[in-house]
Amino acid sequence: MTAFERTVRPVLFRVGGGDAEKAHEFTLGRLARLGAGARSMLRARYATDDPVEVFGVRFPNAVGLAAGMDKNGVALPAWPALGFGFVEVGTVTAKAQPGNDKPRLFRLRDSEAIINRMGFNNAGAAALAARLQTLGPIGVPLGVSLGKSKVTPLDEAVDDYLASYELLHPYADYIAVNVSSPNTPGLRTLQDKSAIADLLGALVGTKPVLVKIAPDLTEPAIAELLEVCLSHGAAGVIATNTTLARDGLAPADQPRAAEAGGLSGRPLTEKARKVVHFVHTETGGRLPIIGVGGVMGPDDALRLFDAGASLVQLYSGFIYHGPALVRGAARAAAARRARAGAVEAR
Ligand SMILES: Cc1cc2nc3c(=O)[nH]c(=O)nc-3n(C[C@H](O)[C@H](O)[C@H](O)COP(=O)(O)O)c2cc1C
Repeated sequence: MTAFERTVRPVLFRVGGGDAEKAHEFTLGRLARLGAGARSMLRARYATDDPVEVFGVRFPNAVGLAAGMDKNGVALPAWPALGFGFVEVGTVTAKAQPGNDKPRLFRLRDSEAIINRMGFNNAGAAALAARLQTLGPIGVPLGVSLGKSKVTPLDEAVDDYLASYELLHPYADYIAVNVSSPNTPGLRTLQDKSAIADLLGALVGTKPVLVKIAPDLTEPAIAELLEVCLSHGAAGVIATNTTLARDGLAPADQPRAAEAGGLSGRPLTEKARKVVHFVHTETGGRLPIIGVGGVMGPDDALRLFDAGASLVQLYSGFIYHGPALVRGAARAAAARRARAGAVEAR
């Protein structure tokens, strides 16, 4: 057990009487208040220097923070200090919105999983733009994840995404188009061929645009989407978002399985890896992939790289294993790359 698992996690899991969203808010608040001294101590402990260049952007290491953890960018300077080589903020929407009714976030501890139906609660694109303007660069690449405002009808989705894009692209190293959250009614239909073509047609321009996909798509549907990504200039794919499936849960978590929402964490590991592998083989490696889903240990990250990912992200793994996982995954990737380099040099 790491120090985090022994001492920090039990405290955080008791915050708010065990309410996962209260623990999340509490933790974000604490991270947002970390001073420069604390951040530099954390950086000395957790940061890994293993630069990689993907879609024209240089990353200090290949392990990033997945979207949804810091939707409004309140704790941005803390993430690089905790070892992340890049950070994806959002998902934000053009209009600020409260998200779904609470409770909407659940830990499934025995399964090392999470179910969420947050519903894009966020302060809106303008508020994030103001925050990023004040903050300035955070020292690692920043991805900005965009979603559709709940009140905007699906047939006006393009303009809604575009409004957010206009406000936020000056601050982003890449833009993630989130069309795969299960928690906004109809959103996943934007993964259809013609819808994603319209979206990419409007958004592809000055900054790399990546499409985040659901793990529940069939392979033919993913293949169609990839064709559009390739023909419309997408810079890459983020695979995957949470799943609507409920496989792989421990018996003690079965009652929680009935909660609506997307499932993440260990039950997603294999599913996400298979999607990454499919995307890689289907595109012949022509589309860079950010692999995400069920990275709960360094080996899971390595398996995503083996499947074809150029970068990985984590969310649930960080909740259960803390910053030592970020460091472990980044160091494992660095060691793998160093070995490959040594073999090549022979
Ligand atoms: C509470 C919660 C909120 C999330 N919010 C978003 C979001 O706003 N946008 C998004 O693209 N993905 C969101 N995700 C999905 C994660 O970015 C990630 O794709 C997914 O959780 C799988 O990774 P993991 O198994 O490491 O958690 C969210 C996940 C969780 C658990």
